[in-house]
Amino acid sequence: MNKRASLKSEQELRDQILSIASLGQVAMAMALGVELKLFEAMATVCKASPKHSATVAEVAAQAACKERYIYEWMAAMACGNLIDVDPSGQHFSMRPEHIPVWIGGEGQLPEHSLHVIDFLPGFGGAFNKVKEAFRLDGPPGVPYSAYEDTFYTVMAAWSRTIHDGELCSGYMELIGALELLQKGVNVLEAGCGAGFHIEKMARTFPNSHFTGIDLTQSAINTATTRCEGLPNVKLICGNASHLDKKWTEHFDVVFFIDSCHDMCRPDLAINEVQRVLKPGGLFSMIEWPNGDGNVYEDRKKYGSAVAALFYAASAMHCLPVGSHVEGALQLGNMMGHGRGRKLLEMGGFAKDKIEVLEPPFMPYNCIYTARK
Ligand SMILES: C[S@@+](CC[C@H](N)C(=O)[O-])C[C@H]1O[C@@H](n2cnc3c(N)ncnc32)[C@H](O)[C@@H]1O
Repeated sequence: MNKRASLKSEQELRDQILSIASLGQVAMAMALGVELKLFEAMATVCKASPKHSATVAEVAAQAACKERYIYEWMAAMACGNLIDVDPSGQHFSMRPEHIPVWIGGEGQLPEHSLHVIDFLPGFGGAFNKVKEAFRLDGPPGVPYSAYEDTFYTVMAAWSRTIHDGELCSGYMELIGALELLQKGVNVLEAGCGAGFHIEKMARTFPNSHFTGIDLTQSAINTATTRCEGLPNVKLICGNASHLDKKWTEHFDVVFFIDSCHDMCRPDLAINEVQRVLKPGGLFSMIEWPNGDGNVYEDRKKYGSAVAALFYAASAMHCLPVGSHVEGALQLGNMMGHGRGRKLLEMGGFAKDKIEVLEPPFMPYNCIYTARK
């Protein structure tokens, strides 16, 4: 994508549109590669080959896919400059130093943006419903159920690539939760999705007890399978805006991890956080960048590629799901730090106890913390 802040000429605009049209098609083909494990297949063949190259037939056999389709896919990857092809047009290669980017390596996860690409097919499935939600006479938004259940597993896979390294170390230390969790406290995560974070926290902090709640039963089912055998995890399908009446002052720490901006009534959910936290308890939200509330500033701060990615994903998913009931706050994932702070203040957290942090080790997130 054009890295410049704005386009100068008509030709530049035409080039930008062509580039996006091409990259959009390539991105969908890459999602096929992620889902069908074609990058893994190609890496396996290349690693076993003396010339570090692969033919279409070899990759097709390795991936158990049809050769004709694999040719088209490998051609798209080569023309997209993602893999190499020799002058014969028959031998494709993945450079050894690129293999960990595609499939991960020792102590290294695959490039996180591959999971962002993997959201596209699921977003496409809800396209017509999103289109209707845009119209004046259309519905207010789109329910989660309109998106395929794969959303939750893709989200968990992406969360893993961006949070696995620091969630239970740098992040917990930064918000002042590390010692608490090590000692043993009651923790709630609202909007836990397919359970990547709760599983990671429960394994790392066996003295603490974790309750995860999510609106969607299929997400809770996946999280339950993921957390099987962990005695310190309880998972419940429910709405964060209406938590269990018995939980008043029950939790020491409450997390919302990339979930606040997807909630229709985050204001009610934050009121509930106030109720269920013990006095002095800690509330922390990991949020997507959230931005400044001014798109001009956002493009300058995050760069065109990252800012456009978050706004476009918000238009296709976060805004519609966060709008689907009458009276929804319609945050979107670039709601602005000011709006995020205001929500916490309105939820009863003292202004001077709210912090918004942007640690370099979580470049795609911002972090809100507040104490009751
Ligand atoms: C973007 S996903 C994040 C999932 C998970 N925390 C992660 O980071 O991998 C947002 C999640 O919030 C859940 N959610 C949205 N509104 C909710 C509500 N009112 N109560 C509980 N969960 C909610 C959705 O079902 C979804 O799983």
